[in-house]
Amino acid sequence: MSKEIVVSGIRPTGDLHLGNYFGAIKNFIAMQETHNCFFFIADYHSLTTHPTPENLHGNVRSVLANYLAAGIDPEKATLYLQSDIPETAELYLFLNMNAYMGELARCTSFKEKARKQPNNVNAGLLTYPTLMAADIIIHKAQKVPVGKDQEQHLEMTRQFANRFNRMYNVDYFPEPQAFNFGAQLVKIPGLDGSGKMGKSEGEGNAIFFSDDPKVIRKKVMRALTDSGPTELNQTKPIYIQNLFTLMEVVSTPDVVKKFDNDYNNCVIRYGDLKKQLAEDIVSFTEPMREKIKSIISNDSYIKKVVEMGREKAKESASKTINEVREIIGIKRF
Ligand code: TYM
Repeated sequence: MSKEIVVSGIRPTGDLHLGNYFGAIKNFIAMQETHNCFFFIADYHSLTTHPTPENLHGNVRSVLANYLAAGIDPEKATLYLQSDIPETAELYLFLNMNAYMGELARCTSFKEKARKQPNNVNAGLLTYPTLMAADIIIHKAQKVPVGKDQEQHLEMTRQFANRFNRMYNVDYFPEPQAFNFGAQLVKIPGLDGSGKMGKSEGEGNAIFFSDDPKVIRKKVMRALTDSGPTELNQTKPIYIQNLFTLMEVVSTPDVVKKFDNDYNNCVIRYGDLKKQLAEDIVSFTEPMREKIKSIISNDSYIKKVVEMGREKAKESASKTINEVREIIGIKRF
């Protein structure tokens, strides 16, 4: 039986953080052993925020080094750059013909971005979900490992894939599903007491693989706390729950249990909790930090990885685009 096809991508906005790891990469590493995986760097997508050419190229390099340091094996998975596969752009064009203004404008991530960058509400932002759908269905993916924040984009991808099938009366694209091994999609909180961990959520909110131990300790120690619970088994406020959620992913279960018991018995010392959390994050990220340093300076290795990925991704994408052209009626004379 042929292996299930998996596709996922990450925007090149700099180094990866713990949210990227637990929402996406952790699944990538497991899935590359058993599935036919395509993991890419979404450099076309990042143009919606107008990076400078230097920043864009540097960030693509960093994300590549981060992917490899985290354990993506380019011999097992196809690791490539989105812009190396212009077939994706062609499929994006086709999908845009059947994507409607209303549904695109209703998308939560569009509304959020439009609010964050009111002077740059470009067409690329509006059609971000059709490009993402093209990324996924260009390889006819069945599973898409992503964090919770991408759920709506996956719903739209299914919508576009089904619409194509209906429109041309074919059973061509499968329905891709958002995926996480732990069953539920994950949302890793940031350190600022609200929302999710993310690069653009403000200074100190995210912990990056490349942060050195001093920076990690400083960020964690600055996280918002209060004077502690006053009643037994009190519900935790969101900013305290966030620290526990982070602990659940980097610390051992007995450590989480100890602090949880201390909280429930009103004897918790937040200083101790933060110290423990910081040390557990430092040990978790340590091996990646070292690997990123050695990979990022290895030009010939990076080049080899990118070339290998391009070739494998190209083969799959060109097969799809040729078949799609045929279905649509764009035929060679
Ligand atoms: P991006 O670059 O924002 O994030 C990459 C991956 O990391 C996950 N993630 C998180 N998961 C849990 N908690 C968090 N705090 C957290 N922060 C980030 C994201 O869910 C994502 O899986 N649109 C995508 C990139 C993309 C893509 C695709 C993904 C483009 N085309 C096709 C899958 C398939 C994005 O901006 O992710």
